[in-house]
Amino acid sequence: MSESADRQPPFVLVEGLTKTFDQLVALDHVNLDLKEGEIHALLGENGAGKTTLSNILAGIYRADSGDVMIGGELVHFRSPADAIAGGVGMVHQHFQLVPSMTVAENLMMGWEQSPRVFSMSDLKERSAAIIEEYDLPVDPGARIFDLSVGKQQRVEIVRTLARGAQLLILDEPTAVLTPEETEELFEVLRRLAAGGRTVIFISHKLNEVLSIADRITILRSGKHMATIPGANATVDRLAQLMTGSETPIEAVSQTGPAKAGEAVLTVRDLHALSSRGLPALRGVDLTVRSGEIVGIAGVSGNGQTELAEIIVGIRAGTSGQVLVTTEGTTQPPTPGQIGIGHIPEDRMEHALVGVASTTRNAVTRRYRTAELSTKTRLRWGPIREYAQEVIKDGRVQVREVDAPVAQLSGGNQQRLVATREAKVADEFLLAVHPTFGLDVQATAEVRQTLQDKRNAGAGVLLISEDLDEVLAMSDRLVVMYGGEVLGGFTRGEFDRDRIGLLMGGHREAAGE
Ligand SMILES: Nc1ncnc2c1ncn2[C@@H]1O[C@H](COP(=O)(O)OP(=O)(O)OP(=O)(O)O)[C@@H](O)[C@H]1O
Ligand SMILES: [Mg+2]
Repeated sequence: MSESADRQPPFVLVEGLTKTFDQLVALDHVNLDLKEGEIHALLGENGAGKTTLSNILAGIYRADSGDVMIGGELVHFRSPADAIAGGVGMVHQHFQLVPSMTVAENLMMGWEQSPRVFSMSDLKERSAAIIEEYDLPVDPGARIFDLSVGKQQRVEIVRTLARGAQLLILDEPTAVLTPEETEELFEVLRRLAAGGRTVIFISHKLNEVLSIADRITILRSGKHMATIPGANATVDRLAQLMTGSETPIEAVSQTGPAKAGEAVLTVRDLHALSSRGLPALRGVDLTVRSGEIVGIAGVSGNGQTELAEIIVGIRAGTSGQVLVTTEGTTQPPTPGQIGIGHIPEDRMEHALVGVASTTRNAVTRRYRTAELSTKTRLRWGPIREYAQEVIKDGRVQVREVDAPVAQLSGGNQQRLVATREAKVADEFLLAVHPTFGLDVQATAEVRQTLQDKRNAGAGVLLISEDLDEVLAMSDRLVVMYGGEVLGGFTRGEFDRDRIGLLMGGHREAAGE
């Protein structure tokens, strides 16, 4: 690269790109240029069109009109394979890896450059060479399900690069990462950009965008609002461009001391195995009272998933006790219990039926009540009304309530689940990464909902990898590590350093 970056012709040029879904204009004459070697952030509220734009570049959707030029040539990708051949690769939020297979198998599978037949040692050697080439260390013999999320993502990136991606698109890659993993990812991205690759980076976390992006493009309701250099951007300016509003978004935090009452959740000496039969919980004790938010901080994979599933009655422990109190009765939890809300870590796996309509999904927790059904049939009038209420309260952007819920943008799916579950959580709400994929405004709203629940007397258990979130929201907090609950902090004595050490397994930081 002899010319300065500014004088270079764009590596990717998008002109007048338009995409509609029925009457909904998801992208409206969007222009964009990407330079070789730049990290370009895409920013916008939930439903702004970020994923749609990425999907078109990656050959998953086809645009209605508009042009995409790469390296000066007009391209028309008809499939992801086409896009890969054209040098565009996307790392999706739901990794496309086969969990039970090894890293090597995942790297080499379905790749035209892999020989038809090769030995296991050949396979390992070839993968090791690729891993070495991109300097993204990961054990080729490891099975995917044994790897941390950060490492799995690394395999996805290597896989995409090995197939020749010059433009790498990452759709909310940090939503699933710890702060350390995020930092590692950023180093990788900076290195790739320095080596001449172009990166599209999507995130709702403005501080991340400010720290990594060379330039930032803001979309609003499918329209291109602005492209600005990262160095000139501020949080306020970005928020203004995204929302069109000058009013800064209020950060939600505690509203007065908790008036904690009786226990709504009691967990005693709980032991459990993971789905793979390994010890996941080793003697967990935990109490959540009405009127308080208890936070569990921790790096994912330390037993949070198993604990959450046992608490809502969809998984069994091997020993110990879990009791929940609803309507004055204390007993072990049953799935779908009224009075208990559950915002799960994976909305598509545990909360929504993708092919069912938004209406149906909005009422799943309530349709068995007399209000919404008789003994033999559903009462569609009240069902529609209730669904509308959920949609309105959650500010879910949905054009057609009878269309499959999978068509909502990721953030709008999350809004739907969070609102639906909060509405049934009169006594207890389990919220796992509740702001996952939400834009700045919706994040503030969901946090407010949790506070409102607490103030109305429900007990809230907040499990999140986002330490800032747990610190801002909780009345009390503990750390989960290695299937155990470590430490115990009450608001006012939160000690970020000690909590961080506990999250890394330094038990001595718990004190006496
Ligand atoms: N397959 C589809 N069918 C119908 N509508 C769709 C489809 N995919 C996306 N949309 C709609 O297009 C709009 C843009 O969605 P998109 O997923 O691109 O938003 P986004 O900016 O990625 O939002 P988020 O931050 O919530 O992920 C939304 O209104 C969404 O409902
Ligand atoms: Mg999206």
